[in-house]
Amino acid sequence: MKTIGVLTSGGDAPGMNAAVRAVVRTGLENDMRVVGIYNGYEGLMSGDVAEMNLRSVSNIVQRGGTVLRTARSMEFMTDRGQEKAADMCHRLGIEGVVVIGGDGSFRGAQALSRKGINCVGIPGTIDNDISCTDLTIGFDTAVNTVMQMVDMVRDTTESHSRCSVIEVMGRKAGYIALYSGIAVGATSILIPEFEYDFDIDVVERMKKTISTGKQHFIIIFAEGCGDATEMARQIERETGVESRATILGHVQRGGSPTVNDRVLASRMGNYATRLLRDDCSSRVVAIKNDTIVDYDIEEALQMEKEIDIDIYRMAHEISI
Ligand code: F6P
Repeated sequence: MKTIGVLTSGGDAPGMNAAVRAVVRTGLENDMRVVGIYNGYEGLMSGDVAEMNLRSVSNIVQRGGTVLRTARSMEFMTDRGQEKAADMCHRLGIEGVVVIGGDGSFRGAQALSRKGINCVGIPGTIDNDISCTDLTIGFDTAVNTVMQMVDMVRDTTESHSRCSVIEVMGRKAGYIALYSGIAVGATSILIPEFEYDFDIDVVERMKKTISTGKQHFIIIFAEGCGDATEMARQIERETGVESRATILGHVQRGGSPTVNDRVLASRMGNYATRLLRDDCSSRVVAIKNDTIVDYDIEEALQMEKEIDIDIYRMAHEISI
């Protein structure tokens, strides 16, 4: 009987549990043994694993976070750490591992595949910044959370005729900012992918809308663009509109996954496990035009994904 493991690695994302559940159930239904590996690659190196049965993953499809917990392991980045993990796999009889995480986790999966352990990656991160896939697990939930939070902030912003600069997650990726910005009708959306000019993209836009009668403003600011609090101060100085910064922070990574994330995670978990059943290795699962596909990890890591400038332009054209 083939034994496979499943782990979650890097920043957690809503929907990871639905993916774990799909891996466990698909594995068992296909006559494999499945072990859950705790704390990502850390747990793989130390052998922190538990045998999973059908009931081990009951009542988790709706839960945010990851029941397997997660970690970012420095040791596993080294060849020694990867050897240690491969040895542990041999000792525990683990022939294949499903790795749910981001790009960094896939590099680890690729290294482990080179050490003879079959690995398949599933993209799980709220940032949606994995090039090979249209969507990552957690993105839909995160943007919906941001939308709800900003709708709430807007109530008080409007009452006080203020400007709210709202910082959302995304150190290098502006997907959360762009999509939530469209959904909430932000006056300006600032993302790390495109350089912005404070005077043109913020001050002038605000002044233009003030001249048409607008009295409150929402600016969506991806964390990779700098300091939201400083931007709020600058806006107040330049426009005279009282301004506040709201940093949404880790609330964006939690919460019950949306239907889209649960379904995406279930499809990807099922597909990844079937790849391991068929002895595939060093693959990443992705969704393209609503079809689940897979790529070689190396190829996937080299792909580039650009944020759609037309969507960005559209957002600015209509939010005025
Ligand atoms: O999960 C992705 C992400 O949320 C980024 O947007 C953010 O910059 C980062 O993780 C923060 O993660 P942590 O606080 O766990 O280091």
